[in-house]
Amino acid sequence: MATTWKDFLDQTEKPDKFDEKSKEIIEFVNFQLRSKRHIVLVTSGGTTVPLESKTVRFLDNFSVGSRGALSTEYFLKRGYAVIFLTRNRGLRPFLRHVPKTNILDLLTITDSKDVKVKPEYEQKILQVLQTYQEIKNENLLLTVEFQTLSDYLQLLKACSVALQPAGNQAVLYLAAAVSDFYIPKDLMPEHKIQSSGGPLKLSLQLVPKMLEPLVKEWVPDAFVVSFKLETDKDLLISKALQAIDKYQHQIVIANLLETRKKEIFVVTKETQDHVSLSDADIKNGKEIEELIIDCLVEHHHQFCSVENV
Ligand code: PMT
Repeated sequence: MATTWKDFLDQTEKPDKFDEKSKEIIEFVNFQLRSKRHIVLVTSGGTTVPLESKTVRFLDNFSVGSRGALSTEYFLKRGYAVIFLTRNRGLRPFLRHVPKTNILDLLTITDSKDVKVKPEYEQKILQVLQTYQEIKNENLLLTVEFQTLSDYLQLLKACSVALQPAGNQAVLYLAAAVSDFYIPKDLMPEHKIQSSGGPLKLSLQLVPKMLEPLVKEWVPDAFVVSFKLETDKDLLISKALQAIDKYQHQIVIANLLETRKKEIFVVTKETQDHVSLSDADIKNGKEIEELIIDCLVEHHHQFCSVENV
């Protein structure tokens, strides 16, 4: 029998420093509430599924966290405060504009033995750092990291529950690529699986869908945006509509693996909008996340105004 969401959360360990992280999240939300700001939880990157308790091996997925990192920047631009729930090694907002992945390649040592940014990178770093520091000084961005599926789901619940007092001012933007399969603790070997045991057969259980308690219990008044990723275009819209019908949340962003960086569908109960970048947009470096966030902000404002009538 499939596990319920309650059993799943009861039976899996909480991530390291869970209480500390939960407190930080609550304080961040309270600060934004006092400042009367909209708050969005952006989830980003893929979850890992450990194969052993003392984990050497785990299953992972393709997501690098571009969608979440880029969307975070555009939400901040539109005046939202952001809780960025991200895979520990996922792409980060702002840092993605830094021209070199190895920070040491950006730096140089002067004759007087000071460390300085190389002149050719100064302008770009100044620009990125200025924006980042403004965001940090105004306390508009809180980054919370996860690695495993259970870390993610435990923290997703903590963030959602913390957002409850924000009511319809809160947006949940669930762009993380979340595993649908896992090995329960009581079926997981403790030690590293030995190759001397021959070919490995894995039996994975279904992960309960957390959208259900999230919408019904954790943040019932929030504006919830989930994602639907498919590889077969014939399934995309029908799966998105099924999700809306089943979970009764506001929006599904439907995307195909191969075209996700240039086109998506914004699906509501009543509408299906195709959002895409033109060739000229792509040439000019425009990003689809800017269009997605513009569209969602409009939907969110409408949602708040209807709810407030
Ligand atoms: O990070 P990038 O490389 O930029 O890629 C971005 C993306 C393709 C990962 C992103 O755009 C995307 O589509 N993310 C959602 C992928 C996904 O998990 O889809 P799904 O069909 O498995 O799940 C649908 C929804 O159910 C998701 O919003 C998820 O949060 C939710 N879910 C999933 C599993 C689970 N146990 N409980 C859930 O509630």
